[in-house]
Amino acid sequence: MDKNLLKEKIENIESIIYGYLPAEEGKQKDMIEAMNYSLTAGGKRLRPMLILETAKLFGNDISECYPFMTAIECIHTYSLVHDDLPAMDNDDYRRGKLTTHKKYGHAAGILAGDGLLNYAYEVCAKAILKSKDTIRAAKAFDVIAECAGIYGMVGGQSVDVALSGSKVDKETLDFIYALKTGALIKASMVSGAILGGADDKETETIEKISLLIGRAFQIQDDILDVTSTTEELGKPVLSDEKNEKTTYVSLYGVDGATQIVKELTEEAEKLMETLPGDKTFLNDLFEYLIYRKN
Ligand code: IPE
Ligand code: IPE
Ligand code: MG
Ligand code: MG
Ligand code: MG
Repeated sequence: MDKNLLKEKIENIESIIYGYLPAEEGKQKDMIEAMNYSLTAGGKRLRPMLILETAKLFGNDISECYPFMTAIECIHTYSLVHDDLPAMDNDDYRRGKLTTHKKYGHAAGILAGDGLLNYAYEVCAKAILKSKDTIRAAKAFDVIAECAGIYGMVGGQSVDVALSGSKVDKETLDFIYALKTGALIKASMVSGAILGGADDKETETIEKISLLIGRAFQIQDDILDVTSTTEELGKPVLSDEKNEKTTYVSLYGVDGATQIVKELTEEAEKLMETLPGDKTFLNDLFEYLIYRKN
């Protein structure tokens, strides 16, 4: 992966997303600032990138993706803000800065997350009303909403938290990963496919790819939790050990987990071959994710 190309893509995504963020004004100004604090702190912007790059494969007007890119990053950021709360993973750093609750207090951490989640839906609803293809936009919203909720990220986080401190078998761990992390990756790629104009068969293939990449992504996150540094990650290392989580690293070791990440990615790349469009960047992105350092 060309680092400059990736940087350019991230800058482009941020310029799109920042255009939708709420203005820091009015009596609730401090809360809006807390919402924007973590959102503008950085991050890989993987989920909006997946929406945009998946949509590009299928040829439709990509500007239809912009509000949904914003929404998914708001939902993802809220999931991180809440994930770091003392009642969950209790972490003090995120995206290289103090976590939202450490900077603004616990109530603000909860409310900033709530605000971001709801803001995502506000942006989506307005996008559906303005879309050139209302049904398509509504379908994109449907997949994002379902994947964010109890059948997706929230469902996965709830089982993850409930089973912290217990030994978890592989099947349950795969369930947790598919939901807590896989679901938002799926929401990104599938909504991108829908907005880009993919047909049903192509959308199904994209869904399969997204599940493989989502699982690989969380396993790599587990690996980085033990192999990386806080400086490089922008969040604390050894968080999983502190919270007594079963992870792919605790089940298979770093080498075993790394091998599984590679196999899942290879499987995804094979499925990519059947899709139309220029797949170079997405394939490079999948490779980059295996060797990422943050
Ligand atoms: C972190 O997500 C939480 C997981 C699902 C592993 P990212 O690693 O995408 O975090 P940012 O957006 O780059 O900060
Ligand atoms: C969390 O997984 C996934 C979310 C839905 C936020 P982790 O708890 O491993 O994510 P990090 O390592 O704190 O980013
Ligand atoms: Mg967690
Ligand atoms: Mg965490
Ligand atoms: Mg982690």
